[in-house]
Amino acid sequence: MPIQAIHQFPQGFLWGCATAAHQVEGQNVNDWWRWEQTPGHVYRNQKSGRACDWWSGRYVEDFDRAADMHNNSQRISIEWSRIEPEPGRWDDYALERYRDMLKALVERGMRPLVTLHHFTNPLWIADQDGWLWDEAPTYFERYVRKVVETLGDLCSFWCTINEPAVYATGGFSLGIWPPGKRSGSALSHVMFNMIRGHAAAYHAIKEIQPESEVGFSIHYLGLKPSIPTLIHLPATSMLDLYVNKAFILSLLDGYARVPVGKRIPVRGLKGALDWIGLQYYQQFQVTFNPLKPGSFFIQQRKPNNMPVGPGTWGGLYPEAIFDIVKTFWNTVKKPIYITESGVPDPDDTIRPDYLIRTVRSLWKAANFNFPVRGFFFWSLLDNFEWAEGFDPRFNFGLYKTNFETQERTPRLSAKLYGEICAKNGLSTDTVARYTPELLPALFPGEVGLAEVKLKPR
Ligand code: GAL
Repeated sequence: MPIQAIHQFPQGFLWGCATAAHQVEGQNVNDWWRWEQTPGHVYRNQKSGRACDWWSGRYVEDFDRAADMHNNSQRISIEWSRIEPEPGRWDDYALERYRDMLKALVERGMRPLVTLHHFTNPLWIADQDGWLWDEAPTYFERYVRKVVETLGDLCSFWCTINEPAVYATGGFSLGIWPPGKRSGSALSHVMFNMIRGHAAAYHAIKEIQPESEVGFSIHYLGLKPSIPTLIHLPATSMLDLYVNKAFILSLLDGYARVPVGKRIPVRGLKGALDWIGLQYYQQFQVTFNPLKPGSFFIQQRKPNNMPVGPGTWGGLYPEAIFDIVKTFWNTVKKPIYITESGVPDPDDTIRPDYLIRTVRSLWKAANFNFPVRGFFFWSLLDNFEWAEGFDPRFNFGLYKTNFETQERTPRLSAKLYGEICAKNGLSTDTVARYTPELLPALFPGEVGLAEVKLKPR
């Protein structure tokens, strides 16, 4: 008998997948929908259209798939433009649909984690320049109240805003997302308003549901100086501060860290956080470049010392999760959830390896007693990947989606993730069958490698 070992996770650890409304629901009319109508904005001028057809009810079968993978939680998002298509007009049908969705999760034994803002806005907010508008946080709070008052009996686990720095950079600095602006001051102001919006939403939710757990998610970019010299190190720290830390540091003492170098007090901000959501995908090398004044003289490049993803996607280094968790725990001292992690990989050649190494690194963090409480894989199924549209190079799903027929096909990684979730851990047997080449590194003892290797998947 080969010795079977397992990297066991703490009891009650949450395992799930993450999705976002606009990427899966289809038939949304919001600022992204409007952006998609202009040629040149999305890969091959594609439109989100039906996406994964959840709004017609196909979420039911996809939730079955998640439950079959032994997920005990699921992260979805609610689309503001559906709930409040015009200022102050609440759409009861949309609220009922979300009630059905949340019920479907609960009935399948999955705890819902609901994101209240995942990049998209109602058109009437977009018409005022989105989050550049100083009233946006107030209207966001009103919408959040409505959602929590109506659906709070089915959900008490909320993520206010997904990746504020990514929304702000894509739409207001790089101009590649709606509303397509390129302005450093707009970027900072949007971040500032999102910080205000988070604080307002946090207190509104806690007032309605004192027992709720409220946090937000940041996109953590692994950043290393191209060469650790006096020039490149400060450039790296500056980018790290803006992209990875500005939002979270602001919450610690209540002073917004935007624009960079400023500290502006915000009412209700200090400590407005029950947990932090980390989303980690990729690594970059950072260089100081005097020829790039438009990007504050900072240049971000694909690393040359590790495998990299397609297009502008960075380096793939899943082991970084341990250090990220450690850094954030030491800084914030709040429970941590990995609210997204995944890899673009249509043929599923990288994903099993990436997933196993991520889970291994997370296991180490959890068992070094860092309070990491859950993991949400991005994504349950291939979906509409923003400016990359349905470009197959950006397929993130455990399930492959055929966008013509809406047929789903499980990738090998779906089976692998199901095993990890079922065992609440990573066993020698699983590693031996999916990524035997990782076995000596992950379980270096004697494991009867030859025997387990022969088992069929
Ligand atoms: C995240 C984002 C998701 C998804 C993912 C993969 O930054 O929250 O919506 O697009 O990246 O690119």
